[in-house]
Amino acid sequence: MNHPETWTNAVNNTSLQPWLDEQVALAERIYSAHGDYSRWLLTLEQLSHYTTSETDFSLPVIQIGKRDHLSEQQKNEIEQLLFNLHPWRKGPFNIFGITIDSEWRSDIKWHRMINGITPLQGRRVLDIGCGNGYYMLRMLGAGAAWVLGIDPTILFNMQFKAVTRFINHDIRADLLPIGIDQLPDDLDYFDTVFSMGVLYHRRSPIDHLIKLFSCLRPGGELVLETLVIEGAGDQLLLPETRYAKMRNIWFIPAPQALKTWLHRCGYINIRIVDVSTTSPAEQRATEWMKFESLKDFLDPDDHSKTVEGHPAPRRAILVAQRPGNSKRP
Ligand SMILES: C[S@@+](CC[C@H](N)C(=O)[O-])C[C@H]1O[C@@H](n2cnc3c(N)ncnc32)[C@H](O)[C@@H]1O
Repeated sequence: MNHPETWTNAVNNTSLQPWLDEQVALAERIYSAHGDYSRWLLTLEQLSHYTTSETDFSLPVIQIGKRDHLSEQQKNEIEQLLFNLHPWRKGPFNIFGITIDSEWRSDIKWHRMINGITPLQGRRVLDIGCGNGYYMLRMLGAGAAWVLGIDPTILFNMQFKAVTRFINHDIRADLLPIGIDQLPDDLDYFDTVFSMGVLYHRRSPIDHLIKLFSCLRPGGELVLETLVIEGAGDQLLLPETRYAKMRNIWFIPAPQALKTWLHRCGYINIRIVDVSTTSPAEQRATEWMKFESLKDFLDPDDHSKTVEGHPAPRRAILVAQRPGNSKRP
């Protein structure tokens, strides 16, 4: 990991420490088992030549280094190296004046969410399915004491390593290349747990919500973001095959159904913070993500539908609390 002293301090003498020690040791083995790892490692090594102490994680475009710190030739070299880690799904980042214009304008979701949740100042945060860590850095920018991200997609881990490699001071964030099923069932630890864009990929959404509950300390807060359908009541959509060309989409509930699920799992103070339809301004193909994107997933004649005829992507953000002194369900 980049900053072992950070997580050691954060988890010292807690139930998390032995598990985390073991995971950090395992991470390198997981990375090196990937067929592209040696290529990515070379890219990361070449990026190590450029470092800065100037960062700002509180801005919509995460800032690392200043444009006039490097020559045009050096910036061209960095740009080419970062392109080696295509596709960039989450961002945007600005690195020494190079803007990584990712597929998702992740700042738009952040803006919808941040004023509806308990302020992150001083909190220990877990971000499940954190992608390349864009939100982890925004969480640090909002004052989080420590952020642990987990994501099993190795390329996104490499992007996080690339972005944080430029920073020559410790950051209070760590990323592990694991999925939620690899987390222990008895963490009872984090003040805030984020699960954004993951629930609809889970075959068993109730088990997912129960696992999230067990990651929280009693009294901690869940921030849940997922696809929803329009409508009142406990309706849900289970696509027969694909949804917006994706094969791995399972349950898409109405917001009220999501509240019922959370209630049944033992959460309290359940609130819907936002419901928004995803727009092509928020998700689109760019130079940094050259594959198909939202507009290719929508019916060309009717953008209220996906190409399969399902309702177009709509996303809800909910917060919910694990009761104080509660046992796990
Ligand atoms: C749609 S993206 C959402 C990324 C980010 N949280 C966001 O909201 O923009 C889903 C992410 O979950 C990750 N993921 C897939 N299966 C997972 C699992 N079992 N546990 C944790 N993360 C998972 C994927 O690698 C991907 O980065």
